[in-house]
Amino acid sequence: MKHIYKEGKEPHLPTLLLLHGTGGDERDLLALADMIQPHASVLSVKGNVNEKGMARFFARLREGVFDEEDLVFRTGELNSFIDESAVKYGFDRKNVVALGYSNGANIAASLMYHHESALRGGILFHAMVPRRGVEIPDLSGVPVFIGAGKRDPLIPLPETEELVRNLQEANSPVTDFWTDGGHELRKEEVDAAKEWFEKNFN
Ligand code: MLT
Repeated sequence: MKHIYKEGKEPHLPTLLLLHGTGGDERDLLALADMIQPHASVLSVKGNVNEKGMARFFARLREGVFDEEDLVFRTGELNSFIDESAVKYGFDRKNVVALGYSNGANIAASLMYHHESALRGGILFHAMVPRRGVEIPDLSGVPVFIGAGKRDPLIPLPETEELVRNLQEANSPVTDFWTDGGHELRKEEVDAAKEWFEKNFN
């Protein structure tokens, strides 16, 4: 997969797995990662799916309706890519924390729903429920930060609540943070995520 790897100054910190939103690329979230923890290593990936010239991490049938078969396939592909990258770049595969926005947050959630121990934690900005009716692996010790907008036109508030519940039922210590905004990423949720990261991983 197309990507950027940047080794951080502090090897004990988790490697941040950066996953952009629809139409983004592997450069999009570098500045955001810097705001969360500038000394962490970064593996920033570009989605392999091309939707009318826009990069995504998995196909969708229409806005908000996922192609489940592709989602499952692409989630496995991303998980294997992280495995290979850990060997290639020498970072600890067991210490990877996702930082995703929108479509990227959705595939980060999908990694947690489908692959045990894929992630040590995650910051999910404006994520949806990636899949329903599956048993989520145990997420004890896998903290998740969810940033959401109360007026997000793409993600109804009860869907975010369902995601929080799903993760909690799998034993993840979830922190949900709500803004009065929509689908856009707001400074206040980035600040809250930074504080959450410091508390959990620094
Ligand atoms: C998705 O398809 O993953 C969500 O609708 C968010 C997005 O538009 O990327």
